[in-house]
Amino acid sequence: MIRSEQSLARFALGLGAADAGGPLSAAESRLACSSVGLPPVSNGEAAEVRAAIRDGQDPLGEAFCTLRDPARRRADGAVYTPGQLVGPMVDWVLEQSPGRVVDVGCGSGRFLGEIIRRDAGIEGVAVDTDPLATLMTRATLAVLGARSARVINGDYTRLRLPEFTERTAFIGNPPYVRHHQLAADAKTWAQQAADRLGHRISGLAGLHAYFFLATALLGQRGDVGCFVTSAEWLEVNYGAIMRALVLDDLGGKSLHVLEPRAMPFEGTQTTAVITAFEIGSQDATVRLQDVKSPGQLTDLASAGHPVARERLREASRWTTLLRSGAKPPPGYIELGELCQVHRGTVTGANATWVVRHHPDLPPSVLFPSVTKARELFAAGSVLDRYDHLRLVVDIPAELDQLGPDERDQVNRFIKAAKKAGVDKGYIASHRRAWWSVGLQGPAPILATYMARRPPTFVLNAAQARHINIAHGLYPRQRLADHTLSRLAQALRDTTTLSSGRTYAGGLVKFEPREMERLMVPDLSTLQSRESLAAAVDR
Ligand SMILES: C[S@@+](CC[C@H](N)C(=O)[O-])C[C@H]1O[C@@H](n2cnc3c(N)ncnc32)[C@H](O)[C@@H]1O
Repeated sequence: MIRSEQSLARFALGLGAADAGGPLSAAESRLACSSVGLPPVSNGEAAEVRAAIRDGQDPLGEAFCTLRDPARRRADGAVYTPGQLVGPMVDWVLEQSPGRVVDVGCGSGRFLGEIIRRDAGIEGVAVDTDPLATLMTRATLAVLGARSARVINGDYTRLRLPEFTERTAFIGNPPYVRHHQLAADAKTWAQQAADRLGHRISGLAGLHAYFFLATALLGQRGDVGCFVTSAEWLEVNYGAIMRALVLDDLGGKSLHVLEPRAMPFEGTQTTAVITAFEIGSQDATVRLQDVKSPGQLTDLASAGHPVARERLREASRWTTLLRSGAKPPPGYIELGELCQVHRGTVTGANATWVVRHHPDLPPSVLFPSVTKARELFAAGSVLDRYDHLRLVVDIPAELDQLGPDERDQVNRFIKAAKKAGVDKGYIASHRRAWWSVGLQGPAPILATYMARRPPTFVLNAAQARHINIAHGLYPRQRLADHTLSRLAQALRDTTTLSSGRTYAGGLVKFEPREMERLMVPDLSTLQSRESLAAAVDR
């Protein structure tokens, strides 16, 4: 019977822990010595536990979770992973054909144990700071016959791996330990590691972020990994380092977000996320899956919907992209896959910067612009002229770009605006040069985004600029006029008020990111010469 941590250590040693995983650390040896006086494991018990381990269970880890009190385990980030998650993660890792697998923060060795059960030829490395955890992992490996694996009782962030010619896979459940429980030297290590990789790390980032950093430092191009963590880093400011690592250094392939009721971790109500990555991979899309029940977690390689990597880079919160993840019907994609949506420029004082005409200013600083939503509604499908539009005064920040005559005119305008206090306005005073509105380039499609009627989408043949009463749709790749025109048509035909957010008074507003989530026919349908209705029906 296992009644204490010492007797668990004794049990692990009885199963052959000292013979697997290489030499014991000083802490493991001390623990082993402290258990020596305890009654030996009976043959019957040992046989039962061996059979359970071979059968895919983790009797030692379960005993550990009962014996060590939850508060202490939480402080060490020792919330072990349910088998329902270990299985699909191991499947994915083995599909990548690694020659070596590193179990990061191995606990009782649930991940490496399962790897070895499925492929005994893989070289295994398991690391954990907790000597009882590493003794359990050694015992598991001994029972499974993986005597050549290395088990390291130490800190993963300081791990050095011998060079290896084949692919290495990193797998695990990096410990969730919050920043205020981390020692100063650990924080210093994290700052230096982030510096080396060219990132900034918030002082509020927790230990799981450090594990991502350590993996980015240890991994080589082509190595892969699959980690399950709490999902908060997808949302919060201090998760920025993890988002950056997943997008760039680690080469994120897919994210699978598990709601607590889909896969409850013992004693927690946390939303978890599985991140699968391949170092060096920069696929144009990353797959995002919203996992609502364990049955959906079958094939990490194909589950979820693709989201453009660039959209993830632009978004400061990733779960909004996830929730959109109602899978587009066949033949459809999200608008954001094709276009970035940008709100028009805020002038800060339309009375100064938006004019009907201005004979005293040079034409080079006057830009015909859409400044009222009704101009887009009136345009119908194409805005093909601009002589009826107002002009936005957009003066370059560097005035020496202007010729001498232009400069005199502009200087007079600036002087008058300053006298009227325009430079003191909030927006103007936060611009690089208060006199330079900074219009964006003409957007090929312009959209209204706030009205009591559905938004309209207008092909901008006139190349007009726009201010913040409209959004501009900027294709991520060059699209022919025919394609753009069909895209605008599809958006006009299908966008309903219910896709936006309703504000008091019934106004419906589409934020740029919300607009990017609208479903549109895929590129081949948009490019086809068939009528849109026929192409969509097919
Ligand atoms: C969330 S548990 C995961 C255990 C096991 N891999 C599983 O999934 O069941 C995290 C493990 O990381 C270990 N740990 C905490 N800090 C560590 C560090 N700096 N280096 C290595 N392991 C650490 C804890 O002792 C704990 O066993």
